[in-house]
Amino acid sequence: MSVDTSVTIGNVEFSNPVFVASGTFGYGVETDELVDVNRLGAIVTKSITPQPREGNPPPRMVETPSGMINSIGLANIGVERYIGEMLPLYESFKTKIITNIAGFSVSDYAEVMEKLEQADGSICAYEINISCPNVEGGKMEFAVDAGMTLTLTKELRQRTEKLLIIKLSPSVTDIGEIAKAAEDGGADAVSAINTVFGMSIDTSSQRFNIATGIGGLSGPAIRPIGVACVHMITSAVSIPVIGMGGITSGSDAVEYMLAGASAVQVGTANYRDPAAGLTVLDEMITFCDEHGFTSLSQLAGALKDES
Ligand code: DHB
Repeated sequence: MSVDTSVTIGNVEFSNPVFVASGTFGYGVETDELVDVNRLGAIVTKSITPQPREGNPPPRMVETPSGMINSIGLANIGVERYIGEMLPLYESFKTKIITNIAGFSVSDYAEVMEKLEQADGSICAYEINISCPNVEGGKMEFAVDAGMTLTLTKELRQRTEKLLIIKLSPSVTDIGEIAKAAEDGGADAVSAINTVFGMSIDTSSQRFNIATGIGGLSGPAIRPIGVACVHMITSAVSIPVIGMGGITSGSDAVEYMLAGASAVQVGTANYRDPAAGLTVLDEMITFCDEHGFTSLSQLAGALKDES
C-alpha cells in the first residue's frame, strides 16, 4: 500500500511533513552533496536579521544529557547578503524554503521581510523567531507577551501574503495564549517549541561550558515538553501547528503528529546525521504502512485519549 505523504499548511502543499529546523541546517545550501535535500518537506533557514551578526563569543555549544545547549547569538550574514548569495541558489531547489526571521524590534522584522518581499525569490514561507528581546519593550522577549506577539504578527501580516508561521517559546506561563495572539494577528500557523533555557558548568574548571552561561537546550531531553506544548496549542487555536523538539526517529515524529501537529521539524539530530530528517520521513511512512494509515496527514491529532 502506498502512503500519501503530502500535507497542506495554509495555502501551501508540502511534499511531506518533515522539515529541518532553523539553525540546524545552515542556509540550506551547505549539505546538498551529503543529503538529498529535495526529499525534505522544507528547509527552515537560520534566522536572518537586518544586519550581519558575528554572534556570541565561543564556546557556543555544549553536549548535555540527551541533548545540547547553544547560544549562537543569531550569527548570520544579514538580509542583503542573504538575498544576493542565497536566493539565487534556491532557484534550483525542489524542496520548499522557509526563511526564518529574527529581530530586536518590530521594525527589524519588518525590514527583513520587506526586503525579502521586494527580492521576490523562491521562498515559500516565513517563520518568525519571536524568542528575541524587544529592545523597545523593556528587553522582554516578544515570545513571552501576548500583546507584543499580537502586534508583531499583525505588522508582518500586512507585509506578506506568503505563509506566515510564528515560532513559539515553551518558557511561558500559557503557550496557548501566545498561540492565540499569533492566530488573532493573522498567522497561518505556529511552530513549537523553540529551545528551553539551560546551563551547564564544568566542575573541574568551575566555569560555564558555553561563554554566555545560559543557552538554549534542545534534543531528546526536551521532547516531552514539546509534545505537551503542541497538544496545549492545538486546544487553544484552529491554525495548524508544526511540532519540534527532540525528534530523532519516525516514532518521535508520529508522537508529535498524534499530539496534534500537522508537520514536524527535525533539529538537533541533524548535527549527528544531516540526513536525519530523511530517516524520520522513511520511518513515518513505514509506521503508516504497519498501522493502517493511508496518509501522513491522517496522523495529525489521531490521539485516542481525551484530555
Ligand atoms: C539561538 C536562538 C534561538 O532561537 C535558540 O533557540 C537558540 C539559540 C541563538 O542564535 O543563540
